[in-house]
Amino acid sequence: NQQPILIQGPMPIEAENFAERLENVEEEESGTFVFYKGTVDDYPVIVMKTGKGMENTAAATALAIEKFNPAAIINQGTSGGHDPDLNVFDIVLGERTVNLGSLKTGNREDGEGITPTEWIPMDLMASEGSAGEDPDAENIRYFEGDKDLLEAAQAVKETHKEGKVVEGTIGSADVWNNEVDRIQWFHENFGSSVEEMEGAAGAQIAKAYDTPYLGIRILSNNKTNGGEYNPETAASNQDYVYEVVKEYIKTK
Ligand code: 5AD
Repeated sequence: NQQPILIQGPMPIEAENFAERLENVEEEESGTFVFYKGTVDDYPVIVMKTGKGMENTAAATALAIEKFNPAAIINQGTSGGHDPDLNVFDIVLGERTVNLGSLKTGNREDGEGITPTEWIPMDLMASEGSAGEDPDAENIRYFEGDKDLLEAAQAVKETHKEGKVVEGTIGSADVWNNEVDRIQWFHENFGSSVEEMEGAAGAQIAKAYDTPYLGIRILSNNKTNGGEYNPETAASNQDYVYEVVKEYIKTK
């Protein structure tokens, strides 16, 4: 009885290329989520079109874990660069994933203004008490990428010809940052390599169920080095993730 591998993609252009490569596909819908249930090399693989953002991703992840009892989850798609050494078409393997929207502001009274660079990271998993009062919660929560998935991804990185493949930190929030100083602030304080809107939400739910999880994100844009948005990166990432899945299946 083989447990399926789940491949998550937020937008149609981030899920449908992989779905087309599946054999013996059956489609299933639940709410706005679409599951393409098929096989790769005779092993069960389910591509999920989750929709964009943290809430869609968290809900779809919990639902899919309950429905399909997966062996592992790969969350993949496009992202924006925070590291000026990374170019459009480079791929980041999420050695770590972090929620860039988990923040506590400083204490400021009426008329004292808004100072985002003084905001403090907040770890919602630190304790069951109030995250606003608990000093232990003033920490960055990193979710670790699964070692076996990382190993499979490293083993096939030469198949990605359009850019390099590196390990790094994927930052997530329902925010698209276009302020270069703010991007640099995240890069320096959270170590983020790229930003997107899903990875940390899926990672948090996968961790709650102890399900192996990895984010794999291609840069579709990089404001820090003038990298213009290119939607064709989405297909290129799915080509690479397909190779990762075939490699990972060999260990199953
Ligand atoms: N900032 C935030 N999200 C981005 N995405 C691609 N580039 C960026 C960026 N610079 C991804 C998100 C979301 C959609 C808008 O594209 O993950 O799904």
